[in-house]
Amino acid sequence: MNSVKRLLRAALAGSAGLLAACGATLPADTPVSVVPRPESVIEGAGSFHLTADTRVSLPADAEGFDAAAEALDEALRPCFEAPLPRAGTPPARNAIRFERCDTLPAEAYRLEVTPAGIDIRAGDAAGAFYAVQTLRQLLPVDALNPGRRIRAVEIPAVAIDDRPALAYRGMMLDVARHFFSVEEVKRTLDLLALHKMNVFHWHLTDDQGWRIEINRYPDLTRIGSIRHRTLIGRDPGGEYDADCRYDETPYGGCYTQAEIREVVAYAVRRFITVIPEIEFPGHAVAALASYPWLSCTGEQYEVRQTWDIDDRVFCPGRETTFEFMEGVLEEVMELFPSTYIHIGGDECPTKMWEQCPQCRARMRREGISEPRGLQGYATARIERFLQQHGRHLIGWDEILEGGVTPTAIVMSWRGSEGGIRAARQGNRVVMSPTTHCYFDYYQTPDTQSEPLAWGGCLPVEQVYALDPYAGLTPGEQGYVLGVQANLWTEYIPDFSQAQYMLLPRLSALAEVGWSLDRKDFADYRQRVERLARRYDALGYRYASHLFQAPEPEGHR
Ligand code: ACM
Ligand code: ZN
Repeated sequence: MNSVKRLLRAALAGSAGLLAACGATLPADTPVSVVPRPESVIEGAGSFHLTADTRVSLPADAEGFDAAAEALDEALRPCFEAPLPRAGTPPARNAIRFERCDTLPAEAYRLEVTPAGIDIRAGDAAGAFYAVQTLRQLLPVDALNPGRRIRAVEIPAVAIDDRPALAYRGMMLDVARHFFSVEEVKRTLDLLALHKMNVFHWHLTDDQGWRIEINRYPDLTRIGSIRHRTLIGRDPGGEYDADCRYDETPYGGCYTQAEIREVVAYAVRRFITVIPEIEFPGHAVAALASYPWLSCTGEQYEVRQTWDIDDRVFCPGRETTFEFMEGVLEEVMELFPSTYIHIGGDECPTKMWEQCPQCRARMRREGISEPRGLQGYATARIERFLQQHGRHLIGWDEILEGGVTPTAIVMSWRGSEGGIRAARQGNRVVMSPTTHCYFDYYQTPDTQSEPLAWGGCLPVEQVYALDPYAGLTPGEQGYVLGVQANLWTEYIPDFSQAQYMLLPRLSALAEVGWSLDRKDFADYRQRVERLARRYDALGYRYASHLFQAPEPEGHR
């Protein structure tokens, strides 16, 4: 090779190397589109070029803001090799400056992007975290999954002011019917964080499986976490005959206390409260199979293999039942810092109690006239116990029927009526009606084209239409803490299907919880389509009916 050629080749190699080192700039994704809808978005001129050299400054006196900066690092991990460098004092240029702002309320934030940098002001660390979640949606979609290191990410200039409408923005996951691994639970928490939701209600026990390790009662997981087989297809509702087929495969799973702690810590870094649910006094067969002395008859049961409501429930006549529940709850309270502890309370038949000498004796002693009153007695006792430990009882709306104390929190699921009644009598309420919040329902009326689901039909439009204040005076509305989506998993075979049932409906509920006073379905529809591209980039599965259907009349 002559010297000219050699020089040319060296120069080309050099520039190629330089190009590789520089990488590409990902252009800004415009116009700005954020779900849930922020309070105010004012687009500016120009953009900010975020690079691996962009420095992050954190306020010295603001506890928890580091979790927000960590979330930013995590969001940018696909783009840059290392977390963004930290700066002691806020740099004037090429920086992301977090600042605490005492005039902003909890969870609120102001996010300002200019060509000189990004300013995040928040009233508390949660607000800073939500600003980062918004910033994630300002990144070009390709930044979520670029497949290569890049030089710069362009972010459009904008000023966003934002705050949530409701304090409680939750989602429940049933891990009893289908068990989700710790990794899957964490991915669910990631989804909640992405949508600025802040409560993960973990349904840990039911007839078909007990999923939380309790040291004092090891058989709960040794025996109660495994069912010997599972019904295939739709449950015929108590009519189990020769036509019913079972998979004849043992099914189980449980979380060790170390794993529970790991999940709670993961949630804390994402400003999500984990509310554990220990079902009582119904939905108890897995517990009774583990310890037969917990039931009215003392019979040995098997962990349930079918889905509908079971008559076999805890015996509230026996003192040992309360000793057991208190022992379980003591360990639960050790694991979960949440002030709310969910004790279920739904769908509890009284059939066993009616025939049980201990239950009848309890009714006589306590002056209880109807068997249903035993549930009120049992709930009130557990509530007192929780209060002695500084916690609040939360339960499904059936707890109202047994006569509930004013301090209990009611989760309204059989429509909103229970929640309305509870708010009127001064109980705090979470609205989670089947009509708008049951994500185990089909997403379209065309159920033939959908994977097997519980039934019903809950299109995303209907989730979006939820008004948790409907039927309440302004004074009563003050008792509504917020809203919650529920994912029951009788017919959810895997995490992929769980995602499909959650998305995009979760985004619609997030917008109810965060942006209630500024909901606009036509506007949401356009933004969620953009959000779906992010679901794609993040590898989440979702239902795309909303994007295929012609736009509803009158929405433009
Ligand atoms: C429920 O759906 N049984 C609360
Ligand atoms: Zn009994």
